[in-house]
Amino acid sequence: MPAPQRVVITGRVPNEAVVMLSAAGHEVESWDSEILVTREELLTRVAGADAILSLLTEKVDAELLDAAGPQLRVVSNVAVGYNNIDVPACRTRGIIATNTPGVLTDATADIAMALILMSTRRLAEGERVIRDQQPWQWGMFYMLGTSIQGRQLGIVGMGQIGAALARRARAFGMTIAYSNRSAIAPELAAELGCVRMEMDDLLATSDVVSLHCPYSPATHHLIGAAQLATMRSDSFLINTARGPVVDEAALADALATGEIAGAGLDVFENEPTIHPGLLTLDNAVLIPHLGSATVETRTAMATLAATNTLAVLRGEPAPTPIPA
Ligand code: GLV
Repeated sequence: MPAPQRVVITGRVPNEAVVMLSAAGHEVESWDSEILVTREELLTRVAGADAILSLLTEKVDAELLDAAGPQLRVVSNVAVGYNNIDVPACRTRGIIATNTPGVLTDATADIAMALILMSTRRLAEGERVIRDQQPWQWGMFYMLGTSIQGRQLGIVGMGQIGAALARRARAFGMTIAYSNRSAIAPELAAELGCVRMEMDDLLATSDVVSLHCPYSPATHHLIGAAQLATMRSDSFLINTARGPVVDEAALADALATGEIAGAGLDVFENEPTIHPGLLTLDNAVLIPHLGSATVETRTAMATLAATNTLAVLRGEPAPTPIPA
């Protein structure tokens, strides 16, 4: 057994991960509250850490790494997205940074598919009618939505989650287009029956556009006023990636003026704050960052992060390092 190391967990995680780390003999400092740690407290807590298990709500930047100290060897993010981590700052300090790809693919693709159905079939709006006890009756023209069968789903960022959504959408009769920095493997393209398009063509021709790219300076406001204007007035935008990929103010305008038909959003630019313009719109479906929120998935994410931590502390390669 290696010498005990100090592992600091920045937020509450499923107990399975804490047990794994403690069972390996490490000194584990867990966080038992649902209330997020303050920055000030976090800077103090990480001092002397050999490993940090971080949540996407915590910024792991040069200041935090330096507050931990030069013995810090690994930062294991409990998320597939790692825009909260300054990866170059980790690299220059010789710290391994890891994420949790794969284990949340299905859960996130399920949520994207759910948002497509909620948006196109006006489900949140319908639910509000019932809960608000508004008068309603079945009618031939009452609360009509849009069919998705035979319609094109444009996937922006064809990684594992994009592909998992494509499989689901095909089962609902949709055709698939995608835009990505590089073409996907021919076998995968054949399996998904999808065509690659330039972003503008994808935006102009898709009935539903779903975002699955990572967030980075290169994808900040990837969807802004110009891109929303390129989309069709009967099309829908789905975002389960990261909020700042979309210019939320521009989206609120586009939804209010009918420039696009609707949007389904799981992520927001300044979580947990939502642009006030979105809150009053019936054609915006808004859910609170639930992409990976199942018991099974959150457990798998936390235990994969613990596995990464343990591997690095044993001097072995991390199973899922953040790609160079
Ligand atoms: C969740 O948002 C994740 O990136 O894992």
